[in-house]
Amino acid sequence: MLPSAWKLVICIFCCHFFSTNVQSMEYYVAAVYEHNAVLNPNAKALSSRNSALKFMGKNLEIYEEQVIAASEKVLQQLSCMATKGRMFLVANLGIKVPCDPLNPPCPSDGRYQFNTDVVFSDNGTFVASYFKQNLYFEDAFDTPPEVQHVVFDTPFASKFGIFTCFDILFLEPAVILIEKHKVQHIIYPTAWMNQLPLLSSIQIQRGFATAFNVNVLAANIHHTTLGMTGSGIYSPLHSSYHYDMESESSKLILSKVPVIPLEDTTVGHIEQMSWIHSDDEINSDLKNRQSKEEFCEKNEQIASCDGSVMTDQILPSFFQAEMMYDNFTFTPLSRHEGKVRVCAETLCCYLNYKKTFPPSELYAFGVFDGLHTVHGNYSLQICAVVKCGGPEPKTCGHEVTDASSVINFELWGNFSTRRIYPLLLTSGVTLDLPDYWGWKGNHCHMHKNNMSSGLVTGALYGRFYERD
Ligand SMILES: *[C@@H]1O[C@H](CO)[C@@H](O)[C@H](O)[C@H]1NC(C)=O
Ligand SMILES: *[C@@H]1O[C@H](CO)[C@@H](O)[C@H](O)[C@H]1NC(C)=O
Ligand SMILES: *[C@@H]1O[C@H](CO)[C@@H](O)[C@H](O)[C@H]1NC(C)=O
Ligand SMILES: *[C@@H]1O[C@H](CO)[C@@H](O)[C@H](O)[C@H]1NC(C)=O
Ligand SMILES: *[C@@H]1O[C@H](CO)[C@@H](O)[C@H](O)[C@H]1NC(C)=O
Repeated sequence: MLPSAWKLVICIFCCHFFSTNVQSMEYYVAAVYEHNAVLNPNAKALSSRNSALKFMGKNLEIYEEQVIAASEKVLQQLSCMATKGRMFLVANLGIKVPCDPLNPPCPSDGRYQFNTDVVFSDNGTFVASYFKQNLYFEDAFDTPPEVQHVVFDTPFASKFGIFTCFDILFLEPAVILIEKHKVQHIIYPTAWMNQLPLLSSIQIQRGFATAFNVNVLAANIHHTTLGMTGSGIYSPLHSSYHYDMESESSKLILSKVPVIPLEDTTVGHIEQMSWIHSDDEINSDLKNRQSKEEFCEKNEQIASCDGSVMTDQILPSFFQAEMMYDNFTFTPLSRHEGKVRVCAETLCCYLNYKKTFPPSELYAFGVFDGLHTVHGNYSLQICAVVKCGGPEPKTCGHEVTDASSVINFELWGNFSTRRIYPLLLTSGVTLDLPDYWGWKGNHCHMHKNNMSSGLVTGALYGRFYERD
């Protein structure tokens, strides 16, 4: 293997210590670095294999400086690091691997170029490498002929698994590392272009850690013009993250991480939920609501008809709108509180909501059950409450970053996949955790009260891997 040039991001983690709490939990310390990368200003030129690697080379110097700065800072803050022991370092770079061009899928120039993560131990020895499986239109790189499940041991927290960027949306290797190889700590270098309202970097990083009860150490690139920011260190219940579209500065995040990810299980206690409603109850509520709306429409005096109506326009009971290139079926949340249901294909989604601080922002509850086909093909089942881009239904699903409506809600659906990522995004692209989420029979639920800021997105993002 010939490491050709360093690229972009790093992830450092080190040593363990015990908390002074009564209930003694074991932690290690992780650091992730969001590098303000030197990227090719002309994205199209990246399509050439050589030019991509040339631009990576420019990052080498910055990268080396920052590794030194990062380790000095670590060193200052953590006495345990003074021993210079037990620090592992992970970096992402391009690697060339010679192959026989007569032996497909070896490229005709006789070398593979892989988007690669490399892991070094504290004494500088090479520990592991991982070739990215799910490329995101990276013409400079090749898909490895066989998927790699890379797991490595550390003295402080046993097995770590590793995958890169777009991999997070696929069964292989991400889900298999957890379900088959029983990995509880994930190293995740990424170059993620944020896509709201469902797939900002920190949303999916948080959702992945919550869904699988694992720790995720995620280092994104910082490049605001490409919409790249959002790194963090997540345990199932805590997160230290960074999301900054304003400045062009790099950022080092340090956090302690529990060796056993889910020591404290306050999330997922589904039996505590007292708010589950039967289909019948929802259906009759829906009927009442629709007949009321019909009545209102006839009288054209919505405000006096029902004091809780939010807007002065007559909203359709259901409408189609595109969200993240998918054709969602939405119903508007046109009242202060209510129960709504939306269905598409085999998925029915339910929402019980109450706006506790409701300015006149339009929200809608949407469902999608089908194959996503733009920028990659992958099958989805989604129930999502989103703040719309404006007062018109057609703006529902548009990118939104800020919101002031605080909404208590209970959301559930009869998903056919068990792999569901709970997403909860609040105003200013900040994260929140559901109070509860989990399964009750055939329904996956999510429950949130007392949000500290306005709701941007509350969603159960299901990946139906078997249907890809
Ligand atoms: C370097 O670290 C690796 C991994 O922890 C270990 O296996 C190896 O023995 C170490 N080598 C030296 C010279 O300390
Ligand atoms: C969106 O889905 C609805 C319901 O399934 C369908 O009637 C409509 O034609 C679809 N629209 C587009 C643009 O695919
Ligand atoms: C979900 O519920 C709807 C409405 O009750 C039903 O028609 C649909 O078949 C259900 N889907 C599955 C996968 O059970
Ligand atoms: C995605 O699926 C569509 C058909 O649904 C197909 O035409 C297209 O080639 C697929 N794209 C990829 C990258 O597999
Ligand atoms: C929400 O916050 C209020 C006031 O802080 C508190 O009384 C209430 O118990 C909280 N509800 C939940 C479900 O946490």
